Amino acid sequence: MTHSPSGAAPDGPAPSAPLGGPVPAHPVYPDLAGKVAVVTGGSRGIGAETGRALAAQGVAVCLVGRDRPALFEVVDGIGKEGGTAIGALADVTDSAALRRVAERVAEELGPVDILAAFAGGRGSPVPALELTEERWRQVLDAGLTATFLTIRAFLPAMVERFSGSVLTMTPASSASSGGHRPGGPDLAHGVAGAGLTVLTRQLATELGPQGIRVNCLAPSTVRTERVAATMSKEAQHRTALRHPLRRMAEPADVASAALFLASDAAGYLTGITLDVAGGRITG
Ligand SMILES: NC(=O)c1ccc[n+]([C@@H]2O[C@H](COP(=O)([O-])OP(=O)(O)OC[C@H]3O[C@@H](n4cnc5c(N)ncnc54)[C@H](OP(=O)(O)O)[C@@H]3O)[C@@H](O)[C@H]2O)c1
Repeated sequence: MTHSPSGAAPDGPAPSAPLGGPVPAHPVYPDLAGKVAVVTGGSRGIGAETGRALAAQGVAVCLVGRDRPALFEVVDGIGKEGGTAIGALADVTDSAALRRVAERVAEELGPVDILAAFAGGRGSPVPALELTEERWRQVLDAGLTATFLTIRAFLPAMVERFSGSVLTMTPASSASSGGHRPGGPDLAHGVAGAGLTVLTRQLATELGPQGIRVNCLAPSTVRTERVAATMSKEAQHRTALRHPLRRMAEPADVASAALFLASDAAGYLTGITLDVAGGRITG
């Protein structure tokens, strides 16, 4: 299983460098079959791809999002492939809505084994001097508090069963393993992202003795539908070339890392932030 080589020179632009590249098929993790997962941000992008990848392993998934047509397109697609999926419309900044999702999943799918708190997105950066209190609170609420609320809604049942794998998500530029590398004037997103790595480590420490693992994924720029639609081809090429592996991540690259961390293959890993960044952690 190898990625196709891009042929890009290490130090210069390569106009023919692929923007993305073929991503190897996911390995099968036999322990995942029969489990139950909740994936927030499941209506598109990385969350949708992770939902599809989990379902292909025999996991029953609940996808959470706000956009009904997009969410149910993913749910229906999984059903057509023979997988089990339900969709739950909820805003992850709303703790009451999240509690209702938790109750519904328990009723319809059973106890949750895997929780992927992936909902989010990046708003425009705002330089510190122009950052209003309202904007600061908005970014921290959607980018950090929402992950706490999501985990809190599902945690009691995991603790009760002494079992669970929780995945969080932060941009590689905010991740601790490569060192915090501010990408520009983007204080609120940077703080929210760095906070997620601390949340992950702190929860892993507290919950390890209760049988629960908590790990974080830290992708660099992922070529989701949204990114592909909003970034020019030239910008995608430039971004690809800034990665030692000379391509942008595909959603399947992140899903692959999520499968691994959710599975027993990562049974002794907790509290880590895994860069899914094509080597772009070094500067
Ligand atoms: N793409 C990248 O380059 C990249 C890189 C590093 C990290 N990430 C992180 O990866 C995660 C997914 O990103 P993506 O690129 O796949 O995003 P995307 O394509 O824009 O999709 C965002 C997903 O999050 C959901 N969402 C956002 N806010 C929500 C809310 N308040 N309540 C419920 N659902 C909400 C959206 O659902 P609805 O549209 O249905 O509301 C959608 O499913 C985000 O946390 C993002 O920060 C992305």
